[in-house]
Amino acid sequence: MLVVVALIAGYAVARARRRVARFSTPFDCAADETFMRSLREKGYAVREHAIPRELVLACAEEARGLSHVMKHGQIQNGLQSDQGARKARGDKMVTLNPRVACNTRYLPYLMDKFDLLRTEMNGAVLEAKDTHADCTTFMLAVYPGDGTGYVRHKDSDDAHTGRKLTAIVYLNEGWKATDGGSFRIWPGDCGDSDPCEEVAPDGGKLVVFYSNLWHEVLPVVNGSARIACTAWFSNRADLAAEIIAEERAAKLDQALKKIALKKLRRTMNSGK
Ligand code: OGA
Ligand code: MN
Repeated sequence: MLVVVALIAGYAVARARRRVARFSTPFDCAADETFMRSLREKGYAVREHAIPRELVLACAEEARGLSHVMKHGQIQNGLQSDQGARKARGDKMVTLNPRVACNTRYLPYLMDKFDLLRTEMNGAVLEAKDTHADCTTFMLAVYPGDGTGYVRHKDSDDAHTGRKLTAIVYLNEGWKATDGGSFRIWPGDCGDSDPCEEVAPDGGKLVVFYSNLWHEVLPVVNGSARIACTAWFSNRADLAAEIIAEERAAKLDQALKKIALKKLRRTMNSGK
């Protein structure tokens, strides 16, 4: 009897170890020639089934469990955010950090994979562009399926701003084309009437793109929750410079408004 119990326990432990080992394997995109060619030539690359289905389901479950800490997404650039952007961006999101993720078991596997991917991407593409990403930030976003998406935008203004690359893993097992929510990207520096490419947010799919490319999330419909885990690979010094430049521009704007008001008052008082 004891032998049987020990055998079953040993089998369970070995299975759990194998599962964890599968969850811990790096994306290893740098070694994937097709992926890297697409990233270099078009500025974005896609890999289907980049994480095991079990991990997709477990992370989606944990993401749903974090809905109470999610807030409406804001249009954001550095520190500036546009509070009135509800229609432009319909998701509810949370920044994933160790505190938010402290009660989750599977999302940290995904976060580790993303962070390893950042190191890979430094050697594979960023260093050739004379930059590198020294931090990864994470976001979980859920679109409720009420016909909202995220209008065409960029995650960073140009190559000198803080965010260098955006990486997304979709957590939507069994996503249907009729649920909408495709990710659209404009390779190169395109206008909005130029051709774009579309990627369905299928569970386990990984998309990596230069953060300064135009992209969009098409409206999500049918009440189907569309869940995505996003990582941004940034350069801290460039991020700080971006924030300082924004602060400076905001202060200058305020000062100019004051001058304009003073002038206006003087003009009105002089009756001209
Ligand atoms: C974003 C974004 C794309 C997606 O949140 O900035 O562009 O497919 N998301 O979820
Ligand atoms: Mn974006």
